[in-house]
Amino acid sequence: MSIELQKLATDIALQAGELIYRRRREGVTVAATKSSAEDVVTLADRESEDLIRSLIADARPGDGFYGEESEATRSDSGITWVVDPIDGTVNYLYDIPNYAVSIAVIEGDPDPLTWTALAATVTNPAAGETFSAARGTGATLNGTAIFANTDVVPSLAMVGTGFAYSAERRVWQAGIVQQLIGQVRDIRRMGSAELDLCSVACGRLDAYYERGLNPWDHAAGALIAEEAGAQVGGLNGARASRDFTLATAGGLFDPLHQLLIEAGAEASVLG
Ligand code: IPD
Repeated sequence: MSIELQKLATDIALQAGELIYRRRREGVTVAATKSSAEDVVTLADRESEDLIRSLIADARPGDGFYGEESEATRSDSGITWVVDPIDGTVNYLYDIPNYAVSIAVIEGDPDPLTWTALAATVTNPAAGETFSAARGTGATLNGTAIFANTDVVPSLAMVGTGFAYSAERRVWQAGIVQQLIGQVRDIRRMGSAELDLCSVACGRLDAYYERGLNPWDHAAGALIAEEAGAQVGGLNGARASRDFTLATAGGLFDPLHQLLIEAGAEASVLG
């Protein structure tokens, strides 16, 4: 079943990807702001989510829906679709070609602490790249198998991270980066959590971490990274969630986790 769900997720993500790419070329309109003035939603975010939602409802009417821009629908089938219609919205606004449509299909409640991710697709239409995975079958980029790096020591690790929309949290996050940056190869902030996780999956990053992600920011990328051989989790044995998401090349998880703890990553800034 996971493979069928993966095919459907990919088909729908590609249609939404085409839509947002077309809208980007026509010009982007900010429809509203959310948690802060920096946290925008564009008309294309809403259109993309509407399209994805209606395609899922046509194909699988009993499934639940949990997306960034609209009300959740409870699942009758036990399956829920976790959707970010544009991850990397600020990149999209500035026409930085690193944004994606992200779709994960999960079993259980739409809570990353308990769900089982079955299938996932993340597509970046500006780059023509589609990452995908079904549980237990590996991960692919444009249909070719991908693998996370192995045997990376922290001092040579290229580490991605992200910053929150709240200025207070960004300042705290910058403090962690300040501690970490001298202990790793370098740090990247590319602006789409889902694509960061996919970058770990295909070896463009050795690791990625962030605090404060919403479920739709990491649901698909976490499965793709895991299926590519990366290690994904939270802090101190927890699962990846809003509290913390860390994805690393094989073998790097424990030493990087230790450095993050020493840098103060456990402190509470989420409110
Ligand atoms: C954001 C991006 C960004 C991450 C933020 C997310 P959005 O998602 O994934 O890279 O640092 O925490 O909120 O708003 O573009 O869907």
